[in-house]
Amino acid sequence: MNRREALIARVIAGYRAAFGEEPAALYAAPGRVNLIGEHVDYNDGLVLPCAIDRETIVAIGENPAGLIETAALDMGADARDSFDPAAPIVPGEHEWANHVRGTAHFIRQRGHALRPARMAVAGDVPIGAGLSSSASFGVASALALSGHAGASLPPEALALIAQAAENDFAGCACGIMDQMASAASAAGSALLLDCRTLATRPAPLHPRLAITVIDSGLRRSLVTSAFNQRRAECEAAARHYGVASLRDLTAEALAAGRAGLDEALFLRARHVVAEIARVEPLAAALASGDTAALAQILAEGHRSLAQDFAVSLPALDALAAQVQAMLGDAGGVRLTGAGFGGCLVAVSDAAALSLIDEAVAAYNASAAVPASTMRFAPGPGASRIAL
Ligand code: GLA
Repeated sequence: MNRREALIARVIAGYRAAFGEEPAALYAAPGRVNLIGEHVDYNDGLVLPCAIDRETIVAIGENPAGLIETAALDMGADARDSFDPAAPIVPGEHEWANHVRGTAHFIRQRGHALRPARMAVAGDVPIGAGLSSSASFGVASALALSGHAGASLPPEALALIAQAAENDFAGCACGIMDQMASAASAAGSALLLDCRTLATRPAPLHPRLAITVIDSGLRRSLVTSAFNQRRAECEAAARHYGVASLRDLTAEALAAGRAGLDEALFLRARHVVAEIARVEPLAAALASGDTAALAQILAEGHRSLAQDFAVSLPALDALAAQVQAMLGDAGGVRLTGAGFGGCLVAVSDAAALSLIDEAVAAYNASAAVPASTMRFAPGPGASRIAL
């Protein structure tokens, strides 16, 4: 049994145990790793994530009791939530359940049908690692609930519903990148997304290249409040410059209009402007397999996240430096996701993968928390799974 077959078997068994019958349908949505374009989605910027081979699967069926009832199989034997889809839907006591409640609320609010349902949910996206376990849960819930009601919503609509749920029901002011990566990715390519227009373009990877996710094992609490603070700082900087969002700021205007702007806010804005400018060059290097360019762009991206955007940790910087030193021109590495712990992503020559493993082993020899590596090919976006 492969990874997905094992997860499907677990979800179906969980549905049976919770509700005493077989589910009618299965829906899946993947996590993502972002290659470049960090903390720019909520500044209307460009991003370049790809879906990974880890996902959330929802088993769904009829509910004669007229409720939407969910069993969260990864949250303990009695992790259950239930609400009336015909009544006003509000956040509940379980954080996990708010992804379901929020997507249900916004499906209905946007004029789509919502039907009573039983759902069992399980996933294998590592939680809190920066690989978007919550976006995959939100998109899987939106796809399952809308599909169960007979609707076939386009990826953008699913992503916007899941993002609104995360914003309003889970309290995280996230952008649209994670949900779009989960909903709209295609196998074999990263997804170049313009977060202002939601236009997408596949960004293919040269066959010589491989993606490694290096999980630092470090998890920091209060990530949501730190994240929301960064977003507020970007909005304050945009107000200072008199632009609708930092997407509209050029490098020249950034420097010219600096007077009177708090130093920290200037650095946040400098990260955003430079990071958006790294996205197209990285897509070009991915396509041509130019590993020296990847090394340079990803190193600049890491430095900017650590020093200007201040979302790294000393241990993550040390790990990235060790991997980069070992890779040389054979590939690059940087912090990925919101930061404050979590994962690094390396894009390298596939022939250089053992160098990454060596660097991680050397780091682990003296690290308080050991790091581990996972390898992913860019996977497909959310879909129904044939039973
Ligand atoms: C989190 C958010 C995304 C994005 C990234 C940083 O994953 O959910 O919207 O802002 O952080 O790039």
